[in-house]
Amino acid sequence: MPKEVSYVSEPKNKTQFTEKFNKFYTTVAQVYDIAVKILPFWKRWLKTTIPHIQGPRVLEVSFGTGYLLTQYAAQFETYGIDYNAKFVTMLQKKLAQKGVSTDIRQGDVESLPYEDEFFDSIVNTMAFTAYPDGVKAMSEMHRVLKTRGKLVIVDIDYPFNRNSLGMLITKAWIAGGDIVRDMAPLFRQFNFEYTDDEIGGFGSVHLYVAEKK
Ligand SMILES: C[S@@+](CC[C@H](N)C(=O)[O-])C[C@H]1O[C@@H](n2cnc3c(N)ncnc32)[C@H](O)[C@@H]1O
Repeated sequence: MPKEVSYVSEPKNKTQFTEKFNKFYTTVAQVYDIAVKILPFWKRWLKTTIPHIQGPRVLEVSFGTGYLLTQYAAQFETYGIDYNAKFVTMLQKKLAQKGVSTDIRQGDVESLPYEDEFFDSIVNTMAFTAYPDGVKAMSEMHRVLKTRGKLVIVDIDYPFNRNSLGMLITKAWIAGGDIVRDMAPLFRQFNFEYTDDEIGGFGSVHLYVAEKK
């Protein structure tokens, strides 16, 4: 039996939590952009989502520097939304330079500005642990996803075999303020059928591919 692990409780003051993270992203945006480009493992983790993306209409929630979105945008009718205004401007510029037509806007995962059942796939990487209200975030993504649509998430969890390096990495994310959750009850609550695979970080980075029933 794997060792028992403890997950992080959601903050009481959700606005304060989001604003604190947002201030941090604004400060580090340029460095983050360079880091994603030069860190081979980060790019590898993000790119594991690509084979699972089905079109024609794709939304990436919380694209950050936009590295992943720029890899597939030209193949689909692509939409992107992120809370951080600096990331939004950075990505709009990158896509304009590439001449790729997309709908990129600023907004909150908790109130997505799209119709019900609008997307064939939703992509979400290294961001769910930055949301203060997991049920609200999941509920909105579920709402805008078509039946049989794919929700593809990459994020931090504990390694299945509880190996010490993986455990250390997961605990480091928690120490940095991320809300590492047990995703299984959330997927079940919204009746998603899903897979959960370790893709890196000694088992601390997971790829979830969920289908809306
Ligand atoms: C750790 S970054 C991940 C960025 C990118 N997906 C990646 O994998 O490199 C977390 C992202 O979540 C975004 N974010 C945080 N809270 C959000 C919210 N409530 N709604 C939408 N995006 C949010 C941040 O602005 C940031 O871009």
